[in-house]
Amino acid sequence: MILHIHQTSADASRALAERILQIARNTPGLVNIALSGGNTPAQLFRMWASEYGDCTPWERIRFFWVDERCVPPEDAESNYGMTKRNLLDLAPIPPENVFRIHGENDPDSEAIRYAEQAGRLIPSAVFDIVLLGIGEDGHTASIFPGQETLLTAAHMYAVGVHPTSGQRRVTLTGQPLIKASCLCFLAAGRSKRNVLAELSALSGSGPAIWVARNALHPVELFIDAEAGALLRDQPNL
Ligand code: 6PG
Repeated sequence: MILHIHQTSADASRALAERILQIARNTPGLVNIALSGGNTPAQLFRMWASEYGDCTPWERIRFFWVDERCVPPEDAESNYGMTKRNLLDLAPIPPENVFRIHGENDPDSEAIRYAEQAGRLIPSAVFDIVLLGIGEDGHTASIFPGQETLLTAAHMYAVGVHPTSGQRRVTLTGQPLIKASCLCFLAAGRSKRNVLAELSALSGSGPAIWVARNALHPVELFIDAEAGALLRDQPNL
């Protein structure tokens, strides 16, 4: 596991934006990136567009989603909507390079449709970059504790269910997650300190730790000092 710990969430986001650019520069041809939603990535997306927009090869990057809430794109809950506001509308990204999950569709049908589309566009089912967040309960993507069967599901995408809201979500499943060429977690804030301590030590259970433990390549953590407060041997920042 490769730890990138920074004093602030802005610094952690900037470091991740630069890592993404480094990968894009070193990847010949098309770069397939799968983005997570939630709140944390918004800062990364805005920074990527504003500070690195001029040096990003947007024409070579194809945008997919790790997961999507089963709501219309204009819904406040939509991961695509959040990405559109913070990145897609702020950078010269060719619309033909954006492959959103249709949250407005029937979840089971959409999981099949999107898996077929992603599988056609990425026959290896290996994303160049997968950006993940982590919940305090140890979930990642939309794979929640108790739904670990999604980690070994046969298809690239499946339907997860938020344990408290019951909201259904189309999510990337475990096998394409762990096969990613570069798997990056981005986390910030005091509320994530316990789950980050477990993740960094690969101790405990939960979907995020299973993914990190089974990843084919070293997982990279981009976190701020608050989220990293309980990590052993935290470097002096
Ligand atoms: C989602 C994400 C989810 C998220 C974590 C962290 O659709 O919500 O894919 O896995 O990354 O829940 O969310 P925050 O960034 O809001 O803490």
